[in-house]
This record gives sequence, C-alpha cells and structure tokens, in this order.
Amino acid sequence: MTTPDAVPLGDPRFQTDLARLYREMRRDHGTVAPVLLDGDIPAWLVLGYRELHQVTGDPVLFSRDSALWSQWDNIPDDWPLLPLLDHRQPSILFTVGEQHRKRSAVISNALNSVDPFELRGHAERFADELIDALCSEGEADLVAQYAALLPMRVLARLFGFSDKDGPGLVTALNDIVDAQERALAGQTHLGRSIQQLLAERRKDPAADVVSRMVAYGDGFSDEEILHDLMVMVIAGHQPTADWITNSLRLMLTDGRFAASLFGGRNSVAEAMNEVLWEDAPVQITTGRWVTRDTRLGGRHIRAGDWLLLGVQGANSDPQVRTDGSVLTGGNNAHFSFGHGEIRCPFPAQEIAEVIARTGIEVVLDRLPDIDLAVPAESLIRRPSPWLRGLMRLPVRFTPVPAR
Ligand code: HEM
Repeated sequence: MTTPDAVPLGDPRFQTDLARLYREMRRDHGTVAPVLLDGDIPAWLVLGYRELHQVTGDPVLFSRDSALWSQWDNIPDDWPLLPLLDHRQPSILFTVGEQHRKRSAVISNALNSVDPFELRGHAERFADELIDALCSEGEADLVAQYAALLPMRVLARLFGFSDKDGPGLVTALNDIVDAQERALAGQTHLGRSIQQLLAERRKDPAADVVSRMVAYGDGFSDEEILHDLMVMVIAGHQPTADWITNSLRLMLTDGRFAASLFGGRNSVAEAMNEVLWEDAPVQITTGRWVTRDTRLGGRHIRAGDWLLLGVQGANSDPQVRTDGSVLTGGNNAHFSFGHGEIRCPFPAQEIAEVIARTGIEVVLDRLPDIDLAVPAESLIRRPSPWLRGLMRLPVRFTPVPAR
C-alpha cells in the first residue's frame, strides 16, 4: 500500500501548522490520506468526519485487534511505536468483542462511583496547592508548574493513593510521556505502585477506584486489572493536562474570551468546548485494523491495513465545520473522546471535565490579571503527532501571597 506522496507522521507541520497541513492533505488525498510512520511503515490517516464515523461505528470491519496488521513482518523489536500496539499486553486496549465490553463495563462502573463533589473538592485542593507554590513569584510556566501536575495528583487520590505518593507518581507519568530515556523507569514506578495498592486493596478494600476495580472485576486476573488501571492513568492524565493548557492558551490569546478573564464562567466552558473542536488533546489515536478488503473515502483499503483515527482532521472537516470563526457553543458532536463502542468511557470524560474546568477556574480566580509572558506565536507544541499540547505556557501576573 506504499504511496509515493504519503505524508510522514514526523512532519513538523503536525505541530506548527496543523490546519493548513490538513487542508493540503484533503486537497491532495481526500478524506483518507496515506501516511508513513517511523521507518517508513505505511498506514492510512482518516481525516473525514463521515469516514471517521463509519470506522468508529463498525468495530467488526474496523477492529481494534492489532494482530491483524499486515506489516508485522517488517517491524523490528525496538520499533518506537511498538508499545502503542503490542497486542501481547493483557490490556483493554487490545481486547475486542464481548471481552472488551466486559472490561469496559468494569472501568465505567469503577469510575462512575466517583462522587462529583468529592472530585471537585480534590481538584480544588490540589489546584490551590499548586497556585500557592507559584503565586508570589509574578510569573510561571503553567505547563511545568501546573497543568502537568494537576490531573495525576487528582487521579492518584481517586485511585486510593495517599497524598505522599502523589508527587512520585506525577514524575513517573511525565517521564512516560516526555522523557524518552526515563520512560521505562517511569513505567516501572507506576506499575509497581499500582500493583502494591492493588494487593493492599484486595485484602482491605476502601472507597476508591482501585477497590472498585477489584470488586467489579471479579473473573479478571490481577494482571488484567493492573494493565487497565495503568491505561486509565496514562490515557487520563496527559490529555486532561493538555485540555487545561490548550484552553488557557485560547483564553489568553483569543479576544473572544477576554471577558472570562474578568470572571465570566460561561466562557470557560465555551473555551474548553472550542478546544475539543479546534485543538483536540488527543489529535490522532492509534486506530483500527481492517478485517477484509473494503472501500473508505473512495479508496481501496486492504485487509490488514492500519487506519489511524484523525480526530482533529475530522473535527475540522469543512463538511461539518463550515465557519471556523463561529464558536462551537455547546455542540459536542466532535470526535475528541472517540466515538462508538470503543471510545473514552463516559465517566472518564466527566472526570476529565471536572479536573480541567476546576483547574482553569482556580487559575483565573487566584491570578485575575494573568497574561501571556511571551508573544503568542512563540508558543511551541510538544513534538508529537498524537497528543496535542504545549511545551511551555509562560505567564505573568501581579504577585499575590499564598493562602
Ligand atoms: C481530555 C481528556 C481525555 C481525552 C481527550 C480522552 C480521549 C480518549 C479517546 C479519543 C479515546 C479513544 C481511543 C480510541 O478510539 O481508540 C480514549 C479512550 C480511553 N480513555 Fe480517555 N480521554 C481523556 C481522559 C480520560 C480519563 C480522565 C480517563 C480515566 C480516568 C480516560 C480513560 C480512557 C480509557 C480507559 C480508554 C480506553 C477505552 C477502551 O479501550 O474501551 N480518559 N480516551
């Protein structure tokens, strides 16, 4: 399936000029574009709204089972993307059909029992703690000192970790996401910590997510539950952190949101929704594998081909987003949490929403005259085609004492 003008996923325009890149890809390739992964491995990127709907709506034709991939013979053991699709791991990410439905229900039930008021309370407390540490300085980097720390602190608390374990888990998580040479050490620390908590909660259950995974996951092995808990924190922390940063960036750089900096609550929700359409934290997901030859977006797709889900491409499809200057309001028909049977579990979306909204509101309440400390054009995206966030968000504000 190699196509001569396929777009490498390492193309820097995935960070620097995404909107134009997608326009050009649509012009040159239509709604399903050929792309090249590390080592020139071919795949398809689904960019059309209708096509993404079709793919996510048919888990039998477009399966989550990466074992179907026709390229496995060309993949070396040290291929950098292997951890994203190694189906030998006993995690929900590599299960299909009835088994997937059961595991998905365990996760949803465990997350559903999180009390929204308690969640809001934890998010406020940790957000205030982080602001206390920076508010007297008059300047800060809201990525490293705030957004990259907050979601994991809250998730650790919901899972049942004690507050003293929080900072170590935050470091492990950020190493997994950003520090290639420490990623494995981060993974090991996170895995051991969750394993230990799991063993404790099996003996002595409490009112937390890990205990509920044990209770509802009757019939699943400790290893399976451990992997699913790992997926929940890894899939949960970074997109929520990026949702906070991308929304704050929008509010600080786009005049349409200036009112909210003086207290307008609606605009926080509007900015967060706008980000899900325009600047999706998960902008490409690892996707699906095709079970039999088919046609998609006018292309012939072969059994065993890999389809990456172009969430941001579909969100900005001119067929649905005819005028990008109009705010999306409450319209949530975007793909930013996925769609269909395999998508971000609804209670996970709600948890992400509470953490992100609280995180943004606390910044605006505590640092009311906050402003960008650098020109908007100099803000740099994290070098990843998959997760869309900023490297730094430098801001300045009138110093205020800690509470
Ligand atoms: C802004 C925040 C978030 C975004 C944008 C996001 C986005 C997504 C997307 C797009 C998928 C689907 C991937 C696919 O189609 O293959 C997904 C799956 C998943 N997400 Fe989220 N997510 C967020 C927060 C969270 C949180 C807070 C949690 C858990 C506490 C979580 C847990 C999961 C899990 C377990 C899956 C896998 C579901 C499955 O395989 O059935 N996510 N997420």
